[in-house]
This record gives sequence, structure tokens and C-alpha cells, in this order.
Amino acid sequence: MSRLPKISGLRLLRLVPKLLRKPLPALQSVVEKHGRLIEFNGGKYQQLFFVSDPEAVKYILKTNKDNFKRSPVIKALQPLLGNGIFISEDETWKSQRLALKPAFHEQVILDFEKVILQETHETIQQWRELTYSKNIESDVSLLMLRILARTQFCQNIDLDFKEIQRAHVDVLKQTSIRNQKVDFYHNKLRKRFGFQPKSNKPTKALEYLHTVATYIISYGRTHVNECSYWLNDMIVRHEPESAIKDQILNFIFAGYDTTASALSWTLYCLATETEGQTACRQEASKTPIEFSHIGKLSYIKNCIQESMRLYPPVWSIHRQSVEADIVSGQAFDAGSYFMICSYTLHRDPDLWESPNSFDPLRFESEKMRGKAFQYIPFGQGERVCIGQSLAIMEMQLILGVMLQQFEFSYSRRDAPDIIPGIIMKSKGGIWLDVKATS
Ligand code: HEM
Repeated sequence: MSRLPKISGLRLLRLVPKLLRKPLPALQSVVEKHGRLIEFNGGKYQQLFFVSDPEAVKYILKTNKDNFKRSPVIKALQPLLGNGIFISEDETWKSQRLALKPAFHEQVILDFEKVILQETHETIQQWRELTYSKNIESDVSLLMLRILARTQFCQNIDLDFKEIQRAHVDVLKQTSIRNQKVDFYHNKLRKRFGFQPKSNKPTKALEYLHTVATYIISYGRTHVNECSYWLNDMIVRHEPESAIKDQILNFIFAGYDTTASALSWTLYCLATETEGQTACRQEASKTPIEFSHIGKLSYIKNCIQESMRLYPPVWSIHRQSVEADIVSGQAFDAGSYFMICSYTLHRDPDLWESPNSFDPLRFESEKMRGKAFQYIPFGQGERVCIGQSLAIMEMQLILGVMLQQFEFSYSRRDAPDIIPGIIMKSKGGIWLDVKATS
């Protein structure tokens, strides 16, 4: 058994400035130098195994999945997610997944077309007047939240979407593993100096999101005809209010920031790749933008897939082993933390030709055969994203409409910096020049 490359002590310290400046490119060079399975060890509470190897990904997410559960990075989100589908395990998870599955059936998704198109047209209406560049990321994020609420909760529900966005960002910051660690050390210090540990009271932002979820349930109870398939199902089955609330908050967490990130980075890629953008526009111009013609928007789909290769919205997937195990020929103790990094996996030069360039044609169906564990924007195995088909189809529609009506270009010298939170975002927004097509 060869020794696992280990980055600790001085080596880790030397890496920190690069990780702070450009975290994901820094990880890419670490993989190029040290290999696809690496131990990062920053002391007792900071050890993790970094995974960027398709075989190891397959083993963790599929072959021996029962030995790899949600890790503390995800458990830290419990104040927001409760015991909803994203965070639950074993039998509870199985029954939730089974109950939610029909809500993502193609026949159900088809009904979302009107809402998706209506919301998209409303968002882009204001772009007609633009004479300056636009932070696409923030508009798209709001658009995806509005679509999520009207397709996954209730069709005509009126919510303060901007406030929900703000609260969601706040809660993710507060519940991040980084903040939990800060609290942990802070409380240790307080204890040493004889103070009571700080209590973990829910914050205003979290309370606000809980109030929103409660309002959605009461609205749903009185407007059953407007309710989404799964919300109606939970109400009709008299599920406890807390369980419905958890699921609503899990959907807010999983269902809009992710698509917003994917759409924003796809628009950025197309703004910098004019040939690709023109080809998408030609495709969109000769196709009715409807679900019944979605198969004809195949080049647009390839562009979305290629953009999610370069900029995977969920750039890391976290697991913790239950028992000691052997992954890719290496032995690991029970309780080891694994971080699967889609970003480095998707840009590995041994797995992808010209890995840093935008080439949508690599996603023509034949070419992707046998690559299921080297391309994982939606995860893999039994916990693969339940909204995968919905996300791709809605993005095809939205991009089709946007590209029919607008040209996008990027005039800044440097590419946007990536902020790798739980979801990949940009530092300061993705600013594009938006011009109506003549
Ligand atoms: C481009 C858009 C999206 C991306 C990139 C994405 C990515 C992911 C990934 C990587 C996972 C697996 C996480 C893991 O294994 O730890 C996941 C799970 C999940 N996603 Fe998505 N997602 C997207 C859109 C959506 C949408 C639109 C919805 C719902 C409306 C959704 C709902 C969920 C849920 C509920 C789970 C948990 C599934 C389970 O554990 O059984 N996602 N997503």
C-alpha cells in the first residue's frame, strides 16, 4: 500500500495564502502536484481526505455508499434543514425520497412551463432599458427563487423574495462549518476563563425563514389547488407541521441557488465564447421555446453541461465513514471526513482534453459514455440530485428565451473570482453587457 500524500504543518501553512486568494485553482495545482487522494491535516479537528479520483468517487457514492454518511459540513446545517431530505439518513431518508419522487416525474415538470416562461419574461423585461453592465448573478438568483416558490410551493403565493434571499445567505454564513469551529474555540476560551459558553440561539435570519415556511404551509392549506404535488401530498397525509417545514427549507436550500449558479456561469461562459453563443442563439431562434421541443435545444444543453464542468455549482460533496474502510487501496479509520471535489475532478488533464477550455461538444452523448464518476455536478449514486432533470430542462427554456432576445458580452479584463461557499458564487457578481438583439 503506497503512502497517502499528506499536507500538514509548514506545507499547509505555505498553502494558506494561495487558498485564501484563489481557493479552487490552488486546489487544482495541489492535485496536479500530489495526486488525486490527499490528506489535509491541520490538527485534531481539521483532518480531511481530499478526493479527486473517479474510482474513489464511485466507491464512496455508490459501491460502498452505506459506509459513507452526511459529514459534519452538512450536519452543521441542521438548524436550517431540520431532518429534511437533504440531511436525513437511512429509513427516514428512504421514505422521504420515495414520497418526493413522483413530484419530479416528467408529467409534473411539464406543468411548470408557464410559470418558468412568465417569470423569465418579467425578469428580462427590465434588461431592455440597460445602458450599462448588469450583475446577472443577482437577477438570475431572484428569478430562480421566484420560480422555485411558484413551482415547488404554491403557484400564486406572494413572498418577500429579496428578504428570503438575504436571510438564506445569512443563515448559510452562520451555520457554515467555519463559523461552527470559530464558536467551538470561542466557547473553549470562555470556559477556560470561567464564563458560560455562548448559547446557540436561533438567529433572526433563521427565525425569518421558519416564519416564511409556516406561512407557506398555512397558505397551502387554504389554497390546495395551487399547491405543488409534494406539498399537497404532505398536507393531505396530515404530516406534522415540523416535517413539512423542514422539507420547504430543504427545497429553498437545494433548489434555487444551485440553478442560479449554473445559469449565471453558463451566461458568463457564453459571453466570453461568442461562437458558442451565436450557435445557441441560432438554435433558439428556430425552435419554439416549449417543453415539447426541448430535445431540439441540444446545443444549449451541451453548453449548460460544459459550464457545470468548469463551474460546478456544488463544487464539493462531503461524507464521513461509519467504519474503517479501504478506498482506492488506502486504509482509512472509522469517522474519516472525505471531501469529493468536483471542481478538480472536472478539470483533471488526464481525464479531460484541454480541461480549462470551454468545449460543449464533449457532451455529445456518445462521448460521455463511461465517464459517470468523473463528471458529477449533480452528485452520483442513490443520493444523486432529485431535481436534476428539472434543473436542466428549466435552464434550457430560460436560456432559450434569453438568447433569443439578448446578446451577452464580458468586457472586464479578469474573469470573475470564484467564492467557493457551499454553492459556487462569484466575488462581487458576474457583470455582463446585455444588449437587445435587433
Ligand atoms: C443546477 C442545479 C442543481 C445542482 C448543480 C444540484 C446539485 C446537487 C448535488 C451535487 C446533490 C447531491 C449532494 C450530495 O450527494 O451530498 C444534490 C442533491 C439534492 N438536490 Fe440538487 N442540484 C440542482 C438543482 C436542484 C433542484 C432544482 C432541486 C429541487 C427543486 C434540487 C433538490 C435537491 C435535493 C432535495 C437533494 C437531496 C437529495 C437526497 O439526498 O436524496 N436540486 N443536488
